[in-house]
Amino acid sequence: MYRAAMATSVEPLVYNPYAFSVHDDPYELYARLREEAPAYWNPELQFWVLSRFDDVLEGFRDFETFSSAGGISLENRRALGRSNAGFDSMIEIDPPEHTAYRKLVNRVFTTRKVAAMEGEIRRIVDGYLDRVLPTGTCDLVDDITGPFPMDVISALLGIPDADRAVLRHHADQILIREDGKMTIPQASLDGIFGLLDYFIADLPKRTPGDGSGIISDLLGLEVDGRSLTQEELLGFCVLFVIAGHETTTKMVANAVELLSRHTDQRAAIVADPSLVSGAVEEVLRFHNSTQYMHRTVTRDIERHGATMRAGDSVLLHIGAGNHDWREYGDTAEQFDIHRRPERVLSFGYGAHFCLGAALARMEGKVALEQIHRRMPDYRVDHDAKVRFHSSNVTGWISVPMTFTPQSVG
Ligand code: HEM
Repeated sequence: MYRAAMATSVEPLVYNPYAFSVHDDPYELYARLREEAPAYWNPELQFWVLSRFDDVLEGFRDFETFSSAGGISLENRRALGRSNAGFDSMIEIDPPEHTAYRKLVNRVFTTRKVAAMEGEIRRIVDGYLDRVLPTGTCDLVDDITGPFPMDVISALLGIPDADRAVLRHHADQILIREDGKMTIPQASLDGIFGLLDYFIADLPKRTPGDGSGIISDLLGLEVDGRSLTQEELLGFCVLFVIAGHETTTKMVANAVELLSRHTDQRAAIVADPSLVSGAVEEVLRFHNSTQYMHRTVTRDIERHGATMRAGDSVLLHIGAGNHDWREYGDTAEQFDIHRRPERVLSFGYGAHFCLGAALARMEGKVALEQIHRRMPDYRVDHDAKVRFHSSNVTGWISVPMTFTPQSVG
């Protein structure tokens, strides 16, 4: 569809990921990036975009050329090296150093631990559904999809119930951006300092390896024959909280909002809940909550006739690559829960492949199963929904819904 439209487009091609006007439907613009400027340069904000599936995939795999050590978000970019933010996050460290950290977290964030969470996730989601079902009305984000992923990651980390709401508030603030601007607003800085202050006060109270969760497990582990530093521990805590909460919470609301507009596919899920896993995969492809990751080029390279210089910023564009007809054929721009893609860019690739991918998929599956089982006739008030504006995370602040009230036994 976009392939034909683009051939006649005369508007100059400008991509500013901070412009709120882009966020409602960025996919036509992404198609122009892929076709007209597969190595796109934004002269005002000084960054490249790679938007074709194969280029994005290669960018994720080739950490020697596309380094994470200059920051993984555009607005936090810096000269290659360690951050001076007071914490060291493995997501911004390249192999081989990254490998030691990743091995460490693989020991505490195990497949078995994640698989064992399914019942707990269902209990948590059901708790939120129980509260709204008798009323026949709710805000999807405030009442269900906003809070539950923080409960799940907190249960894994060992964060007490009473502290979860405040951590969620800080995490939500961190991603706030202003229309068109690359600068980081004060609210966002307050969010990061809020999280850091919490964990700076919390870590000394914990007992290493006491079985209370991943944080105490990490306190009992060593890297290169020494305990983790405070900066390293803070890095893990902040990364787990932000990564574990934000993208998942946005993903599930995106899923329900999309399904509410594709009523035949939603009816198919209500009739056959086994379709839910496919629906989660398609939401991840079609409208991923993470739209791109930032990298810094380490040497001069050529892409599509353009020269990227060492030190330049590049966005590996997941959202654009996930709609590339070269990978997904003529139906790439369609939402289809029956699609079975072999590959998606949604969780990245290579060294930094999302640690929580299995957990996120399970949270999405359980939440969509329970929502479609327990409030199958939900209606979204599309005129009243409010979009969340960030630079690389897509989602909703508010999605009002009504449904047939249910008594809860
Ligand atoms: C729909 C939900 C999610 C999406 C779309 C998502 C996306 C991503 C992406 C694209 C990356 C790669 C970053 C890069 O290459 O720079 C990543 C890394 C990561 N994700 Fe996720 N994520 C999700 C859920 C989660 C959850 C639930 C956790 C829970 C712990 C998590 C933890 C992490 C961590 C720790 C990394 C860094 C891994 C490393 O540096 O080795 N993510 N995620």
